[in-house]
Amino acid sequence: MDRLTCPVSMAGVTADPDTAQTPQNAQTAGDVVTMDKLVSLAKRRGFVFPSSEIYGGLGSSYDYGHYGVLLKNNVKAQWWRAMVQERDDIVALDSAIIQSPRTWEASGHVQSFTDPLVDCRTCKLRFRADRLDEEECGRKPSKHPGETPDCDLTGARDFNLLFETTIGPVREQGSTVYLRPETAQGIFLNFKHYLQFARKKPPFGIAQVGKSFRNEITTGNFIFRTREFEQMEMEFFVSPAAAETWFEYWLAERMRWYLELGIRENHLRLRAHDNDELSHYSSATDDIEYLFPIGWQELEGIANRGDYDLRQHSLHSGDDLSYFDTETRTRYIPHVIEPAAGVDRAMLAFLADAYDEDEIEGESRTVLRLHPAVAPVKVAVLPLVRKDGQPELAREVHGQLRGVLQAEYDEGGAIGRRYRRQDEIGTPWAVTIDHQSLEDRTVTVRDRDTLAQIRIAIDDLKPELQRRLDEPWRSPKLRGARS
Ligand code: GAP
Repeated sequence: MDRLTCPVSMAGVTADPDTAQTPQNAQTAGDVVTMDKLVSLAKRRGFVFPSSEIYGGLGSSYDYGHYGVLLKNNVKAQWWRAMVQERDDIVALDSAIIQSPRTWEASGHVQSFTDPLVDCRTCKLRFRADRLDEEECGRKPSKHPGETPDCDLTGARDFNLLFETTIGPVREQGSTVYLRPETAQGIFLNFKHYLQFARKKPPFGIAQVGKSFRNEITTGNFIFRTREFEQMEMEFFVSPAAAETWFEYWLAERMRWYLELGIRENHLRLRAHDNDELSHYSSATDDIEYLFPIGWQELEGIANRGDYDLRQHSLHSGDDLSYFDTETRTRYIPHVIEPAAGVDRAMLAFLADAYDEDEIEGESRTVLRLHPAVAPVKVAVLPLVRKDGQPELAREVHGQLRGVLQAEYDEGGAIGRRYRRQDEIGTPWAVTIDHQSLEDRTVTVRDRDTLAQIRIAIDDLKPELQRRLDEPWRSPKLRGARS
């Protein structure tokens, strides 16, 4: 099936990729937030900061602040939940970042993990030769490299993206190691352990989340492409005959994950790689693409890696990584289907998809309409005024709630301003303690998206919030619902 031309149909919803190619010509163009707005909100509210800012910053390095950490943790927790907690056939791993350098010779990264690099002799900048149309030339007015009469580009040469370092106190032969460029290889190195100790047999998967490092030629676009980033990868080992079916299965599963976490279906699509785009290990790859502020871009790759990795590691290590199927009495090297997602990129997609602006009683408001499961804070507890026993009761309520979900207490400033602050960090519900609360131990619960307020007993708060958290959720931006 050519996924470039076929509408993607998942979970009862249909997205037509052909109707939306870029933010400029997308049907949804009005609904794509600018990167500037996202960067500004992320900094203002403490999600993401440029790293090393007091030393002038370090290009494309970012630090995650309080709400950024909470959001990122929620994204990872949802991934673990879908991959491991809710399944019997996938187990977890946390492998080392620095592995034997032979890993990367066997995997092909030392030879083939390259991007084509061109230098400009005029502005002295470097660009990815295959992305010149996405890059900016160093001269003003800004144009793409090669477009101004002064541009003087060299021919393309291969640049290896592996981050190299040395192990031990002396830089000598044999001390070179690499920071892993993908978490996947750690999984292949441990494949045998899982056959033996976890008593797993194909079809089964091993899941891992962790940092990866790539010396990207060009970065930029905020946390979209950085040199240090986190991945959520799962290698699913299957018999050769079952590989195609499992590939299709994981395409659908991964699309479903994003959709169930509220990503709008008209901002998500599958795109099959052309043959000349395929990685050195892949026989088929589809990208899940999201309509980012910079256009349709890869959010996650799902690859059929065949038996490439286990075969290579068998050859290079001398260890037999084949599997003997006692039922069919056949021996084979398992094939691998790999859904590989970026945590930071997923976080950017959740932020972009959630960002909204509306007006309440003549005042403009910025609101993150995040799925409650990924929202950094689930509930804010706010005394209406800072007197008459309200702060004390509010603290009691906060104390009850914080044991079961991420809750935040805030008593400073006018109530409207406190609501706006919570709206901006995407808190789905705000519990307000007012004078009536002290009389009858009831509170109001305000909904971030509908602004509806209900009054309920303090004793019913926990089950009510839990019920709301468990409910299926769909972005109010899709329903066109504005307060
Ligand atoms: N093991 C396969 C693999 O690593 P990939 O498509 O190169 O495949 C998987 O990476 C995902 O990791 C991408 O879809 C993207 O979300 C994320 N990713 C890759 N390079 C990245 C970078 N430089 N910055 C941020 N995220 C990145």
